[in-house]
Amino acid sequence: MNILILGSGGREHALAWAVKQNPKCDRLIAAPGNPGLALIAECAALDILDGDAVADFCGENAIDLVIVGPEAPLAAGVADRLRAAGVLAFGPSQAAAQLEASKAFTKDVCDASGAPTAAWAAFSDLAQAHAHVEREGAPIVIKADGLAAGKGVTVAQSVEEALAALDAVFAGGEGQVVIEECLTGEEASFFILCDGETMLPLGTAQDHKRVGEGDTGPNTGGMGAYSPAPVLSEAVQKRALDEIVGPTLHEMARRGTPYQGVLYAGLMIRDGAPKLIEYNVRFGDPECQVLMMRLGGQVLDLIQACAEGRLREARVHWADDHALTVVLAANGYPGTPEKGGIIAGLDSVPETSEAMVFHAGTAAADGRIVANGGRVLNVTARGRTLREARDRAYAMVDRIEAPGLFCRRDIGWRALGG
Ligand code: AMP
Ligand code: GLY
Repeated sequence: MNILILGSGGREHALAWAVKQNPKCDRLIAAPGNPGLALIAECAALDILDGDAVADFCGENAIDLVIVGPEAPLAAGVADRLRAAGVLAFGPSQAAAQLEASKAFTKDVCDASGAPTAAWAAFSDLAQAHAHVEREGAPIVIKADGLAAGKGVTVAQSVEEALAALDAVFAGGEGQVVIEECLTGEEASFFILCDGETMLPLGTAQDHKRVGEGDTGPNTGGMGAYSPAPVLSEAVQKRALDEIVGPTLHEMARRGTPYQGVLYAGLMIRDGAPKLIEYNVRFGDPECQVLMMRLGGQVLDLIQACAEGRLREARVHWADDHALTVVLAANGYPGTPEKGGIIAGLDSVPETSEAMVFHAGTAAADGRIVANGGRVLNVTARGRTLREARDRAYAMVDRIEAPGLFCRRDIGWRALGG
């Protein structure tokens, strides 16, 4: 098969790494790719938000399957355009991608399907939003509506903080916000393949959203992850499928916009009961890195079965293993990351089926790899136990010489007990 992966982050590097292990993969192209992807795939300069350009590229290069990594091309309708051109695409339609693109849409689907989620209200008027916060009190959650790369959310501990967050959203004069009840419990990510009819749980992971150790400081896109997430026990997964994901997929199909692709349910679990925080219409980043480390080449068969509507026949083969990834981010992240920091020592890190350094925001300059984004590298390892995976990953981190990068030293703490 000739396969095109759209995207340029650690998620896409991990997807490519796994897909390439499958003997069915003949030619592998990443667009636009990154220096890590360039080591294992061809990289093509392509505007991945331009559905016509991507469809033309597929025709010219006899592409059999397109795997869409990030949400932006999905929200822009690139998967629809590909399917209209007869190209097999993994990822939801523009209409179904609203599950991530619009928080108000998702809340409406939850209400229609009875899926448990935080109580909410949507506002496009600042004064009304202020009044709502004054009435409800804190803690309370303010979400700018639309795609915000995980950064449009304020979990406000005081009314003042909530009002300031509202003012920031409406700073340009207009705004759309969802204001939510603040959920408590333990957060985890659940990934489910859906082909419009059948849902197949793919795996669980736990992200580390805050920049600082002990889950402190501002939210980021994710500073590390591990899989599986023990809080998502078999029983909790079953409840999440029965009470949240299943009803959502049913409602999407009922509306005439069935969901095809991977659905990422961000869940809050308290006393064994899951509630939906949000959906994403793609793999998580960095959760994808740990899932791919554990799944390996079978992921291509699963993705193909999903895109072809054959999930009913598919099975996920899990080993009794664990994976953990540590994000190395550029100094300054999640504010303004410093660019250009030189990264040395990558050659001394063994890359095997148990250990990989996935590239996210890197660039090649004068034969060197330099930092070129907020999250730069994802140092990922597998082990028989989570502790083994963690120790292996940090041993690799310590071989990388990059004074311009930092990482959290406590990835996995909830499962490992500190
Ligand atoms: P989102 O972009 O919706 O994933 O929000 C980013 C992060 O904010 C989530 O991963 C949670 O940690 C937190 N968050 C969002 N909504 C809530 C909520 N209703 N209650 C508590 N925390 C939340
Ligand atoms: N790691 C969180 C996300 O991908 O949205």
